[in-house]
Amino acid sequence: MITLAFDVYGTLIDTHGLLAELEEQISEKAPAFSQTWREKQLEYSFRKGLMRKYEPFSVCTRQALDMSCAIYGVTLSPERKADLLRRYRSLPAFADVQDCLLRLKAANFRLFAFSNGEPSALEELLTNAGIHDLFQGVVSVDEVQSFKPNPDVYRYFLDQANSAPENAWLISSNPFDVIGAISAGMNAAWVRRSPAAVFDPWGMEPTLTVGGLGDLYSKIARV
Ligand code: 2OP
Repeated sequence: MITLAFDVYGTLIDTHGLLAELEEQISEKAPAFSQTWREKQLEYSFRKGLMRKYEPFSVCTRQALDMSCAIYGVTLSPERKADLLRRYRSLPAFADVQDCLLRLKAANFRLFAFSNGEPSALEELLTNAGIHDLFQGVVSVDEVQSFKPNPDVYRYFLDQANSAPENAWLISSNPFDVIGAISAGMNAAWVRRSPAAVFDPWGMEPTLTVGGLGDLYSKIARV
């Protein structure tokens, strides 16, 4: 049986789902602000992981929001920030997610969510998106006290899912995550959600590239 580990933020869940709220508050700066917020969130996870100074992903998200405000010269009240962070726990799923998961589950793939997010945030996010019960398990890096792409977190996933690496796939829109999984011996599908998305030229290619989750079922069933 094949195990599929779905990355959450950016793959199942739209990390730019607060764009409308941001536009109300900071108008034309919103798209770049949202991009920086996400980039800083990931940068902070990489740095805290390397420094072995783990703090939950929600802390990276909060600190990245503060940093984005500093970069763009934006002042948000503590209440507005708290509201944005609360909404971050119920970001929307991409439109192609539910159908893809239903088809893969019906075809007997073993489905897991696998994320940097801490367990409580993942429960809330996946439940709110109506997809929580489609997964056999939700695996958070929190137990390892590190972040992707530390090889330990992919090993932890395989252990939790009780799968050999060659029978497991990471499904992710994040190139660093795809490379991390391949480097840990797994297969990996890169979900290229935008034609403008590019893949790091490290000489490690995704096992499979799909333009969205709509393509995943037919392509992965053929591999
Ligand atoms: C996740 O682990 C990397 O944001 C990504 O959900």
